[in-house]
Amino acid sequence: MSRLQHKVALVTGSSQGIGKAIAIALAQRGCTVVLNGRQQSKIDAVKAEIEQFGGQAYAIEADVSNYTAAKYLIEKTIECCGKLDFLINNVGISSRGYLAELHPDVLQQVFNSNVNGSIFPTQVALPHIRLQKGSIVFISSLAAIHGLPGLAPYSASKMALQAFAEALRIEEHAHQIHIGILRVAKTAIEHQKQTVGANGQMQPLKARTDEKVLSMERVAQDCIQLIENRRFSQTQTLLGKLNHLLNRISPRIVERILIKNIHRFKEESQ
Ligand SMILES: NC(=O)c1ccc[n+]([C@@H]2O[C@H](COP(=O)([O-])OP(=O)(O)OC[C@H]3O[C@@H](n4cnc5c(N)ncnc54)[C@H](OP(=O)(O)O)[C@@H]3O)[C@@H](O)[C@H]2O)c1
Repeated sequence: MSRLQHKVALVTGSSQGIGKAIAIALAQRGCTVVLNGRQQSKIDAVKAEIEQFGGQAYAIEADVSNYTAAKYLIEKTIECCGKLDFLINNVGISSRGYLAELHPDVLQQVFNSNVNGSIFPTQVALPHIRLQKGSIVFISSLAAIHGLPGLAPYSASKMALQAFAEALRIEEHAHQIHIGILRVAKTAIEHQKQTVGANGQMQPLKARTDEKVLSMERVAQDCIQLIENRRFSQTQTLLGKLNHLLNRISPRIVERILIKNIHRFKEESQ
């Protein structure tokens, strides 16, 4: 029997993409899954997909970047499921553009989504997770290793999550809560995926067709492993691991590599 059987997992932002893949993988392993997003019809569709293979799911619409809505999400989860074992903070948006050109709204949008959207549900969920000695996972990015050109607000928001995760791990040590952080590498994206453009407006991301990208299922598998092994952090891909190590030894070398490859980031920013 899977160790995840009869556990309750809430995955924020699970109507599509990586969040959806994590929710499905957890449900396949016997978890009751709480789906979340800002559009009820989209999370209802994922709920139906899970129920089709015999999994159990609830779908709760809430904007996690709003404290009241995040509180509602956790309270509703407890009302539906009676407990909460795992919170996977997956909601996140990226942005494009150099700081010199960014509309000031961009920073606020990215931090609202990525930092508030992870910390609000975490704060409200803490007493429930303590009761189960459960897990809180933050879905981070390789962009959290070293500030990336054209992605500064995104990099900074994911680095902020790292600081929260580190502090939380110490604060909650006595309660035996597992805190995990997964630094996700470039992954396949849904065709509707959007990013915040330099002008502050949402814009579609270019399709990732011919690039080397991870599958969403691979990310879900690594997220589950992090929970099962109660590991603090994991960095995906060999290149990501090398980058992480090199940045610890000499951030200056990483900076020089980034300057040499700046054209790649410029192309991506367009
Ligand atoms: N894809 C990659 O290459 C990659 C790489 C590294 C890290 N990551 C990280 O992985 C996570 C997921 O990325 P993804 O590519 O799967 O994103 P995505 O396709 O844009 O999906 C985001 C999900 O979050 C929901 N959402 C967005 N804002 C929300 C909010 N305020 N409240 C509730 N739900 C919200 C969206 O649904 P609604 O819009 O309907 O609310 C959607 O279900 C993010 O944290 C991202 O930074 C991704």
